[in-house]
Amino acid sequence: MEKVTINQIQNSKLKAQKLAMLTAYDYPFAEILDKAGIDMVLVGDSLGNVALGYRNTLPVTMEEMIIHTLAVSHAVKRALIVADMPFGSFQENEEKAVSNAIKLVKAGAEAVKIEGAEYIPAIKKIIKAGIPVMGHLGFTPQSVNLLGYKIQGKTMASAKKILLDARALEKAGCFALVLEMVPEELAGKITKAVKIPTIGIGAGKKVDGQVLVTNDLLGLYGNPPSFVKPLVDLRKIALGAVREFIKHKAV
Ligand code: KIV
Repeated sequence: MEKVTINQIQNSKLKAQKLAMLTAYDYPFAEILDKAGIDMVLVGDSLGNVALGYRNTLPVTMEEMIIHTLAVSHAVKRALIVADMPFGSFQENEEKAVSNAIKLVKAGAEAVKIEGAEYIPAIKKIIKAGIPVMGHLGFTPQSVNLLGYKIQGKTMASAKKILLDARALEKAGCFALVLEMVPEELAGKITKAVKIPTIGIGAGKKVDGQVLVTNDLLGLYGNPPSFVKPLVDLRKIALGAVREFIKHKAV
């Protein structure tokens, strides 16, 4: 089974092949996503919300990201593994950003994702160290206290800033770009304006690929965003199975 490469991800845009990315935080789900043929597995810092019970992604640490990246990398044979740089791991200085990105690669990541366009010098240094970087614009969950949990790019000024940031991240060398919770028209405009693939989440269809939090897609998280239509209710199925066990097997 051949590994998905950064080149393939980038060429998919030229070939107009849509990309699919989902999150995984542990071995069993990473194995399922890989077996199903997903292009990229994201060890997202949504880990905090959906797996560790935190209120948001802000408390997620490098140590937690390393453990979960290790678990995912043990399962994935084909997909490209992207790991999120958690809040506090890249903002302080460029050296710390590079050394934290290296730690994620040592745990099995093949690329890292960084939110925002405020730390382009750090992004450039990480790429210089040989680590591919995926950008992330629009609603960036690590800035939830500043932005609020809402669609970004609705005013002319903020749409323009997101478009300029997208161009700047492409110029800095990012290989792909997540666009989260921006209007479909803006996502389409950015997708046309940059040569790197755009991966949308709550950003409509005019993008080069889609990403979702797997727990939202599979109905495992009680509070999914409104733009997600779960394809199955795994929580309900699991509850039923556990109740069945308690009733018939454990008495
Ligand atoms: O952490 C995450 O899962 C993400 C996706 C929502 C893109 O960043």
